[in-house]
Amino acid sequence: MSTASFPEGFVWGVSTSAFQIEGATSAGGRGPSIWDVFSADRAEACDHYHRYPEDVRLMKDLGMAAYRFSVSWPRVFPDASGKVNEAGLDFYDRLTDALLAAGITPYATLYHWDLPQAVEELGGWPSRDTARRFADYAAAVHGRLGDRVDTWFTLNEPWVAAFLGYGDGSHAPGRKSPAEAFQSAHHMMLAHGLATQALRSGGAARVGTVLNISPVLTPAQVSDFDRQLSEEDAEAVARIDALANRQFLEPMLRGSYPAEILPIIERNGGLGHIRDGDLDLIAQPLDLLGINYYSPSVVQAQPSEPAAPAYPGSEGVLFCTIPTAVTAMGWPIVPNCLSLVLRRLSAEYPELDLMVTENGADFVDVVTGDGIHDVERISFVEEHLRALLAAVEDGARVRGYLVWTLLDNFEWTEGYQRKFGLVHVDFATQKRRPKDSALWYRDVIRRNGLTE
Ligand code: NOJ
Repeated sequence: MSTASFPEGFVWGVSTSAFQIEGATSAGGRGPSIWDVFSADRAEACDHYHRYPEDVRLMKDLGMAAYRFSVSWPRVFPDASGKVNEAGLDFYDRLTDALLAAGITPYATLYHWDLPQAVEELGGWPSRDTARRFADYAAAVHGRLGDRVDTWFTLNEPWVAAFLGYGDGSHAPGRKSPAEAFQSAHHMMLAHGLATQALRSGGAARVGTVLNISPVLTPAQVSDFDRQLSEEDAEAVARIDALANRQFLEPMLRGSYPAEILPIIERNGGLGHIRDGDLDLIAQPLDLLGINYYSPSVVQAQPSEPAAPAYPGSEGVLFCTIPTAVTAMGWPIVPNCLSLVLRRLSAEYPELDLMVTENGADFVDVVTGDGIHDVERISFVEEHLRALLAAVEDGARVRGYLVWTLLDNFEWTEGYQRKFGLVHVDFATQKRRPKDSALWYRDVIRRNGLTE
């Protein structure tokens, strides 16, 4: 059997986030986060806070080289007093040591959506001061873990945190204000810039951030990327790409906002929160960009009968469904779009290393006496890995791939019904059971490649 091999040193692993797996929401002096307040579902998630030794062992048995976890800000700063809760840092200390002892490289994410409720009460992300607090938090975490953790991601998917949290209110903290969504996005980027400076001055080896990059295409382009577009469709595609992707890429990597969206921000609350010097602070040199890829955004112009906008700035744009296979969430499965994203970013940012920091799928799993035969998840990951490899063969600088996710867990507004894990969790007993996909992934890691 021949193998389609990945480059030597390619990093294989999984990603998780604190609120989705840790549970133990008041242990060790942790304060409430906006998700504790927003979500009625108070279950203990995967109780990873107590069961991390077992979870690290599982990862070791599966051959993982890297583990991307997030640090819970309200464990470290439970309130707004500015006083560090050492017991909160102790947990990440123990986790880091356990990972290193198992030969797994830790990758830390500082913000995966769990803002301390106390900071929300002082204004949350629409308030500029939250960016300064975030930098203090980054420095505190780095101060404790920086001797053992080399790679730091500041934010995870700021688009989601700003636009679903403060724009349409579907995520915590549930505010519904277009102006606050744009202010939050800007302040998150400012937080990223200030935290990057704090991490660098503490001597952090590698700093990056994680963006959800969703290629924007018309329905016809899904099967033919080079398809010529009408002027209206080209404008719709460019505008959604500016809002969803370039709103973050360009300030962080080039130091400027995309021209298309400045008038949109101006119409939605104004530009007053963008101060002189902010963009220089935001555009800190980065070592690594994490890409979370799940599916494309498929859009077309709808000039005559405008639908209600999907989010601020998307007026007159229709979000389309396309006739492809979908995951249980209903997300279209288009692996080639992962190639597209990686090629495009490598071409546009030739200095930057890329890593796929999340990719994976929820399907309805059937637990049988002889295991969980999640063949759809295996094909999903396999097809995306082939797409990734095709991009690498074209010269894209992709250094690793992390599956979302290790364990079935708390999927935000969808709760526990969504199953993204390589490992099944029985939430009544907290028993973990690797699915077939976990064992298949272990073999991919072992051979550093796919069988042809
Ligand atoms: C991206 C987010 O980072 C993660 O928290 C979430 O569970 C997955 N997408 C799946 O929706």
